[in-house]
Amino acid sequence: MDSEHSVIQRFKNNGQGHVFGFWDELGDGERSNLLAQTEEIGLGEITHLYETLIRNPGDSLIDMSELKPAPFIKLEKSPGEEVIWTEAKLAGEEALRSGEVAAFTVAGGQGTRLGFDGPKGTFPVTPVLRHSLFQVFAEKLRAAEANYHCLIPWFIMTSHANHEAIEAFFSDHGFFGLKPEQVHFFRQGRMPAVDHDGRILLESKSSVAMSPDGHGGSLRALVRSGAIDTMEKAGIKVISYFQVDNPLVHCVDAAFIGFHLLRGSEMSSRMIPKAYSDEKLGHFCYENGKLVVIEYSDMPTALISRMDADGQLTFRAGSIAIHVLSTAFARRLGDGGSGIVLPFHRADKKVVTIDEDGNSVAPGAANGIKFEMFVFDALPFAKNPIVVETSRIDEFSPVKNAEGVDSPRTCQEDQLRQIARWLHVAGVSIETDETGLPSIGIEVSPLFGYDEDTFVRSWQMLDPKPRIVDGLVLK
Ligand code: UTP
Repeated sequence: MDSEHSVIQRFKNNGQGHVFGFWDELGDGERSNLLAQTEEIGLGEITHLYETLIRNPGDSLIDMSELKPAPFIKLEKSPGEEVIWTEAKLAGEEALRSGEVAAFTVAGGQGTRLGFDGPKGTFPVTPVLRHSLFQVFAEKLRAAEANYHCLIPWFIMTSHANHEAIEAFFSDHGFFGLKPEQVHFFRQGRMPAVDHDGRILLESKSSVAMSPDGHGGSLRALVRSGAIDTMEKAGIKVISYFQVDNPLVHCVDAAFIGFHLLRGSEMSSRMIPKAYSDEKLGHFCYENGKLVVIEYSDMPTALISRMDADGQLTFRAGSIAIHVLSTAFARRLGDGGSGIVLPFHRADKKVVTIDEDGNSVAPGAANGIKFEMFVFDALPFAKNPIVVETSRIDEFSPVKNAEGVDSPRTCQEDQLRQIARWLHVAGVSIETDETGLPSIGIEVSPLFGYDEDTFVRSWQMLDPKPRIVDGLVLK
């Protein structure tokens, strides 16, 4: 560790001396807190990000004129497609049975839009019992373990802000029936926020305004935390990556994993066709022969709304942040040794900070810039990356906002519609509105059924069948 004097000097030399502006007023504990935080900050990196993303952002590095829609493996519809889906499912099941698959949840986000008081994974998401997102995923993993007679280690990336709360939540809930030693928590890295002149923002006199370095930080956090060593020791070859906000996700999907393995892919992604041109999903594209995701906000409007002759959006493959990565690829990108470093993106946000006198300021508008990496930026570096379609109604309903689209209400309704569809396939009709939403609340634990097949199988075994009433829980 550098001596305190040399750290302070380094900040002064880089025009960031104000970070230690209240040094003389701080007690010992506060000083060591500030020093520990500043040790994490790469000042050269901050200067570079200021120059390239704030002062002189320049044009996008993506050549928009070269963009082509990315091809994807379509959902099974025709007999030819059925065969490849069956082969993929068998290959994925084999990998699961052999214990080569780990689940990986990125849960380090700040969840500002939802505004829930606690880590997002602890949010009560289910329609009747109000079980948490973490419980839903844990039960899905337990169900898959029972199905494939295997152990699925679960890696959860947290942030400095929510790590202890997440660990405590799992231990207070008995790890939701999983073995404590199969659940691995590790913190992601963080970055300081800066103002529009590139000056590092202080959160208080003794702390920098730090925030998580984005879901793309997961690759280097896997390596730095030692999680990837743990995976390799356990013989894990495939990492099934999903976000903490989507309870419909198939945490480990045999067919998706199978496609990834059979095609020799290092990173594979799921897509859904966009519902309408302005839907705010990233677009899977090819740029100069490389698979890339272009964010909604970076894509020219003319391309977003371009139509094919058959009336479909040309760039319709939307990214829903579900990926499979090979462990070796995650290591190669995460340790930076290959010379590949994921780029940072800027996000203009409201950052709670202090003024020159040290008084706290809660900004009314965006006053700061945070730097984040995105995991999909790894795709162009992967060998044979593939995109595989999935069904929106069966796999995607995230909780992002407190109200409106992608909110707790829409997510609960999507869970209820799914249960009504499964009951229908099992031969039970229940009253729904024209969108398929039932008028009563029902909950199905993933341990009873986590997809149509497993649900119908369990339902058929029930004897006697329960009456379908408001508040029915199947577990
Ligand atoms: P979002 O982009 O939805 O961000 O994260 P968020 O932080 O959860 O919510 P807002 O934008 O503040 O409202 C997508 C996924 O990536 C994870 C989140 O936990 C979520 O699972 N994530 C995001 C991280 O793990 N770390 C990050 O630094 C950012």
